[in-house]
Formats: sequence, structure tokens, C-alpha cells
Amino acid sequence: MKHLIDPTDLTVQEIDEILDLALDIIDNKEKYSESCKGKKLATLFFEPSTRTRLSFEAAMMELGGNVLGFSSADSSSATKGESVGDTVKVVSCYADIIAMRHPKEGAPLLASMLADVPVINAGDGGHNHPTQTLTDLLTIRREKGRLNNFTIGLCGDLKFGRTVHSLIKALSRYSGIKFVLISPKELKVPEYIITEVFEKNNIEYEEVTTMEEVIDRLDIIYMTRVQKERFFNEAEYVRLKDSYILDMNKLKNAKKDLSILHPLPRVNEIATEVDADPRACYFRQALNGKYVRMALMLTLLGVNV
Ligand code: CP
Repeated sequence: MKHLIDPTDLTVQEIDEILDLALDIIDNKEKYSESCKGKKLATLFFEPSTRTRLSFEAAMMELGGNVLGFSSADSSSATKGESVGDTVKVVSCYADIIAMRHPKEGAPLLASMLADVPVINAGDGGHNHPTQTLTDLLTIRREKGRLNNFTIGLCGDLKFGRTVHSLIKALSRYSGIKFVLISPKELKVPEYIITEVFEKNNIEYEEVTTMEEVIDRLDIIYMTRVQKERFFNEAEYVRLKDSYILDMNKLKNAKKDLSILHPLPRVNEIATEVDADPRACYFRQALNGKYVRMALMLTLLGVNV
């Protein structure tokens, strides 16, 4: 039984196969419409979500399966003190696969060690978000036609942004990727990413504090929101929250084929005037999330179509 907790739980070949499958699903939706008939997905969300939970649920429905679960800890027996371990052992009796989001880093890993069905990490604290990474990779592949040889700028809250940590881990295994890390000094990527990912694997990266100094060199810019829920100090959040706002003026110097990604939700990081620019990929990215989660669930459930 295979789980997905960290993006590196999947080999590059397995990721490429999931993306190939997602592309086939996009082209042949009818072929897959009954492929999970009789299967049930449980979405256990101890933290808020719009895209991840609903795209998982839509994905299972479009595969012909069913969905059960909860969308907040408050509506589960966690409020009575039930442990994550007991929760997943019980849910394993009711569902064939589990997608779990939890504010505590490592909670989905613990769940995977105790569950009797595959567990998918749908985001754990500031740690990882591997299905967002699959979404991002599918988006890059569809927009750029490749997953190698480009310069990507990651901008915003690189400290707490789990989507950034997972994307760096996954992309660093493809060739010819240059990373430009754009953040205030208070929100730089954690040191382990620098030492364990970039330095250990000899990957080219640079750290800057303004978007303007690098925008003309980027093939992709990955904007992120400052993660309010991870701050201990409200004043510090307010001071940093609008550090970067991408607008049409800043895009004047950008490449004509720049791809603008954002895992969403957006707060102020991208002005809404950018939405009409063909380089804005973030709503297409949200749609890709459904298809890649369909492909992932088929893979983890061992369903061959
Ligand atoms: N991108 C993402 O994880 O969005 P949600 O928090 O809405 O699921």
C-alpha cells in the first residue's frame, strides 16, 4: 500500500506517469467516469480549505466514486479529544482512501502509519503539500511543455509556505532548473531547504528581496500569500502581508511568455487586473488540481483503466 506524504515519496518516473495519466483524463473524461465506482474517498480536513478539499471531492465524483468526511476539526470527534491515529483507524473501516489536512506537521505521516488504506497529505502545517505540487507540475508541463530548463521565481512567504517547500523538493529533481527566491529577510526559506536540497544537490539558487530586480529573467513566477495562520504576532503579519504585489506595471519588464502561478487563495499578492493577462495561469492551475488528483487516486488505488 502506497501513501503520499512528501513529494519525494514519488520517484520522478512515478510523477511523470501521474502527469501523463492526468493528461489522458483531460482528453478522455468519459473513459474514466466509472473507474472508481464503489470506491469511497474520506476527506479529513482539520484546517480550512476550498480548492484542495473540493477538488479531491470533485475528482472522486468524476471517477464515479463517493465521498464522505468533515471540513473542520470542530465537526469531528477531535473536539472530544480523539487522536489522529484513532480517527484514521476508524475511517479506514468506512473509506478506501483518505485525504487529510492538519495544522500539525507530521500528522498525515502518523496517520499513514496507522491507517489500513492509502493516506494522502493534503497539507500539514508549514511543512508539505504534495498534491499542490502535482498540480503545479501539471500546470508547468501544460503551459511550458516541459519540466526542465527554466528559471522559476518563488515569491512571498517562503518560510511558512508549504506549497513552496514541496515544489522546490520536487522540481530540484529535474534538470536545468534555476531557483530565484524572492522574500523579505523574515520570510526566507527554511535553512534545511538551502542545505539539504540546494547545496547537497548542487542546484543553482539565489535569494533576493525585490521582484523588480529579477522579473525580466524569469520564465515562471510562483506567487504566494503571507500565511497569516502561522504567525504568532499579528503586528508582524500586518507589517509583512503586502510585501509583494504583482501588477501590470511590474509585468512591463517580464518575458512575453512568463507563466504566473499561485496556489491560491490570493489575498493581495496579485492585482486583479493581471487576471485578464494570458500569462496568468492560476485559475487554470486550480482546474489542473482536479485532474491530477483523479490521476493520483487511480494510481494509489491501483485502478487500471
Ligand atoms: N491551494 C490550496 O491548498 O488551497 P486551499 O487551502 O483552498 O485548499
